[in-house]
Amino acid sequence: MIWPPAFAGVHGRVGLAWNALGRYQKGVQTLDSISPAAPAGALASPAVARNTQPILDVLKAHLPAEGRVLEIASGSGEHAVAFARALPRTTWTPSDPSAEARASITAWAAEADLPNLKPALTLDAADPDGWPPLDVQVVVCINMIHISPWSATEGLMTGAGRVLPDPGGLLVLYGPFREVDVQLAPSNAAFDDSLKARDPAWGLRDRDAVVAEALKHGLHLTRRVEMPANNLMLLFRKVG
Ligand SMILES: C[S@@+](CC[C@H](N)C(=O)[O-])C[C@H]1O[C@@H](n2cnc3c(N)ncnc32)[C@H](O)[C@@H]1O
Repeated sequence: MIWPPAFAGVHGRVGLAWNALGRYQKGVQTLDSISPAAPAGALASPAVARNTQPILDVLKAHLPAEGRVLEIASGSGEHAVAFARALPRTTWTPSDPSAEARASITAWAAEADLPNLKPALTLDAADPDGWPPLDVQVVVCINMIHISPWSATEGLMTGAGRVLPDPGGLLVLYGPFREVDVQLAPSNAAFDDSLKARDPAWGLRDRDAVVAEALKHGLHLTRRVEMPANNLMLLFRKVG
């Protein structure tokens, strides 16, 4: 598993990673400016710096005031730290199949020292039978389904469908999507081309296909939120 995918695009969706000494972290590219504040071993993503607050605003509006959240594909771990800090009555469990990502999550978490931020799990969305038994009310997945094969989306829906309570369980997806009734933004079209050039199994997902896959597992699309830079947040609920 590659963290982060070596993609340098106009979106800056994947960031340069620098450690505390300002050393470049192998395999990470971006056009964005560097972040010198990362602790040793931590990855830093300028895209995360930009999208954390808009995503948090939506999470605050829809997450239960208290509860347990599983984050799939946590990447650098910066979101996990920011969200756990901003939502102190939730218990936030990050995860990623990449050892490099988990090391970064651990580094950020050690610096943050938040009682409600749990250790990162090794979790491959594409292998839902390998997910540990979990008791969570919310699953959050940010910027993964277009940077992984479709099997990861299928597995995500299977796994979320299993672990989330019925009724009430919430799955939150964030990222760029294709939509039949919305013109694809030129920047998203270019991003899609770049992803497919890197791996033909990657690429922006069709929103309706994702919704249909979710529905197979009892997850109903209940909200579509337009986000900056032509991204969407899609909220799915178990509705009983
Ligand atoms: C573009 S990064 C996004 C990371 C983070 N969510 C963010 O927004 O910065 C994509 C992440 O998806 C993870 N990933 C790729 N395939 C996965 C899979 N099958 N299951 C879980 N995570 C996966 C990668 O390891 C990487 O951390």
